[in-house]
Amino acid sequence: MGDGQIIFDKNQGWVIPPPKEPAKSKEEFKKEREEKVRWLIGHGYLRSERIKDAMLKVPREDFIPPLYRDYAYLEVPLPLPGEKATISCPHSYPLFYEPLGLDKDHKFLEVGLGSGYGTALAREIVGLEGLVVSIEIDPLTFEFARKNLENLGYRDIILVKGDGGLGYPDVSPYDRICITAACIEIPPPLIEQLGIGGRLIAPVIEHGVQNLVLLEKSEKRIIKKVICEVLYIPLKGRYGVSEE
Ligand SMILES: C[S@@+](CC[C@H](N)C(=O)[O-])C[C@H]1O[C@@H](n2cnc3c(N)ncnc32)[C@H](O)[C@@H]1O
Repeated sequence: MGDGQIIFDKNQGWVIPPPKEPAKSKEEFKKEREEKVRWLIGHGYLRSERIKDAMLKVPREDFIPPLYRDYAYLEVPLPLPGEKATISCPHSYPLFYEPLGLDKDHKFLEVGLGSGYGTALAREIVGLEGLVVSIEIDPLTFEFARKNLENLGYRDIILVKGDGGLGYPDVSPYDRICITAACIEIPPPLIEQLGIGGRLIAPVIEHGVQNLVLLEKSEKRIIKKVICEVLYIPLKGRYGVSEE
C-alpha cells in the first residue's frame, strides 16, 4: 500500500485503510504532497501549471478527519463526516479539472463539496477574478467543509447547503461545472446554467458502469465525450440515484 499506488480491488471496490491516530508532521506532509505532484505529472494526470501550483499549495491533509489524515496522499477516497461522503483520491482532481480546462477567471460550480479540498483547489486555479460556488446536500459534510475552508482562510467562496442537482442560478451562467457524485442523467438545471462555450464534467452511470463524461455546450448543440471509467458515490436529491 505505498504512496502513489491505486488501492482498488475488482471485487471490493476501493480498499479504505484502517483508522489510526495521526502521527505525521507538516514537513512530512509537504514532502508527500510534492512527491504526489511529481507522480501525477509522471502518470499523465497533471499537465497545466495552474492546477499543478494549486495542488502544491493546498494542504490536502487539512481536509481529512484526524483518524484518516496520515493517508492523505494515498490514492484512495477517505471517509468524511456525513452519510457516505468521501474525499476523492488525489488523482481525481486533475482527472476532472484537466479535461474541464479549469482556468484563471472562470466562474465555477461544484456539485458535491465533500471535504472542501476540490473547492480550495478550484479557488486557487480560477484566481481572484474568478468565482467558485459549491453545493453540498449533507448538513454534517457541509459543516465539516465550511470549517476546513475557513481555517485555511478561504472566505470568498459561495457555499450552499442544498441539492446541487438544482444548481445555483443566482450567479449563473457558469464557465465550468463539476459534479463529484455519480448520476444517471446530468441534471437538466445544470445544463441550463452552463454558459455557451462552457464545459461540464460528471461521472454518469451507463450500462452498469460509471463513465466520466465531459459535455461542451455550443449555441446549437452539446458535444459529449467519454473520458474513462470511474467509481463515485451516487448523487442524491431530485436527480439522484434511487438505491432501492
Ligand atoms: C466524492 S464526494 C466529493 C468530494 C469532494 N470533491 C472533495 O474534494 O472532498 C461527493 C459529495 O457529493 C455530495 N452529494 C451527493 N449528492 C448531492 C447533491 N444532490 N447535491 C450536493 N451534494 C451532493 C455527497 O454528500 C458528497 O459529499
